[in-house]
Amino acid sequence: MALVESMKEFIHVEDAEKNVGEECALRGWVYRKRSSGGLIFIILRDSTGTMQAAVKKENVDEKMWKMAEDATIESSIELSGIVKVDERSPTGYEMNVKSFNIIQLSEPFPITEYQSTELLLDKRHLWIRSQKMNKILRIRSYVFRYLRGFFADRGFYEVTPPLITKTGGESGSEMFDFDFFGDKVYLTQSSQLYLEAMIPSLEKVYCLVPSFRAEKSRTIKHLAEYWHLEVEAAYYTNEDNMKLQEEMVSYVCQQLAKNNSDLLGQLGVNADSLEEIKPPFKRLSYKEALDYLGSHGAKKKWLDDLGTEDERILTENEDKPIFVYNWPLKIKAFYMEANPENPELALNSDMEAPHGHGEIIGGSQRIWDANTLESRMIEMGLTDKSYDWYRDLRRYGSVPHSGFGFGVERFIKWILNLDNIRDATPFPRMINRAEP
Ligand code: 4AD
Ligand code: MG
Repeated sequence: MALVESMKEFIHVEDAEKNVGEECALRGWVYRKRSSGGLIFIILRDSTGTMQAAVKKENVDEKMWKMAEDATIESSIELSGIVKVDERSPTGYEMNVKSFNIIQLSEPFPITEYQSTELLLDKRHLWIRSQKMNKILRIRSYVFRYLRGFFADRGFYEVTPPLITKTGGESGSEMFDFDFFGDKVYLTQSSQLYLEAMIPSLEKVYCLVPSFRAEKSRTIKHLAEYWHLEVEAAYYTNEDNMKLQEEMVSYVCQQLAKNNSDLLGQLGVNADSLEEIKPPFKRLSYKEALDYLGSHGAKKKWLDDLGTEDERILTENEDKPIFVYNWPLKIKAFYMEANPENPELALNSDMEAPHGHGEIIGGSQRIWDANTLESRMIEMGLTDKSYDWYRDLRRYGSVPHSGFGFGVERFIKWILNLDNIRDATPFPRMINRAEP
């Protein structure tokens, strides 16, 4: 409900074009302000953009003029007037204000023009309203929407796994543990095992939930809490799995290019370049990747993992993501199916984002035979009873299946070319940072 009665037709800034010549009302926040004599220019921002409003002393009553004079940066306001095209206005439109009201007069805003990165992280609850964060968060929301649309169109069910678990599975990543009524439990690092359990019920499933990794180093690609899209599909081979991954990444890029090109442009991203992200993506076997690295000054031994620098070398000249497939089983997680053509290798792949943005997907065909799984788990020292329920899945109607995990913030970092993954999420959780 409007505080001032004359303000009935609220529009958003993005609707200015459709309302030229009309009397409309806007609600938002004071983004910038300047005045000269009997004229105050207020740039109002709302969730959709910014627009200039001209408050002329002779057009408003005394009380409104006083409020316009008093309005501080970030005060919440509502105003109404006629929308007109004005080339001198920074956004192309201007409102000639007839009524003006302050909803809440802001205290002096603690963020001013030049601020340290640390201060912006401390004041994250206020910084997320900045123009840059607003636009990133809108793209993030669209990414979630398109991901869900992609899977809904292909007959996948969205499921909700537990985030508190007693099982892990991904080698090389630490888990957060805590006391759960006297029992030691973990925050999930991956929902994969639970998705596998859903297969005999729903066949093709995905989830979009957080995963937690106790990453002890500060990097530009790692969060301690990130949003993980994970997928499992009955009867999918690793080949089907890789196809699904490239189609998914391509679909989200196409949708963004088609529906959000303005927003992308405002973030300095050319929608045409996203439109080019189409299958097939280049595929390198792990062996080929090592050879490529060797001939580009980064000598690697068999069984070495790929580090940040290797990922950069492999993808710096790529515009589309690439797959690195057929990794040695020995350096991958226990659940991966061996490649029948060479049992030392896994039926798996990682998808690497272009220009060194890093791994965005890890996926594989899963072991579905009970004995094979059992011996692999013993080999890897996973004899824990906590995994008994997972072993059960191979005893009661097991089927071949594959799946993958996609890091949403890694993807956003790549498509928006962000310097640091923390800006792909509103409230990043990293080493030394669990607030605000
Ligand atoms: O490669 P990861 O560890 O694979 C798994 O967890 C499998 N269980 C997934 C599956 O098959 N269902 O993680 C998958 C993806 C990575 O490729 C990366 O994009 C992202 O999750 N990721 C992170 N993103 C942000 N911060 C971190 N600390 C991340 N660790 C992994
Ligand atoms: Mg991985």
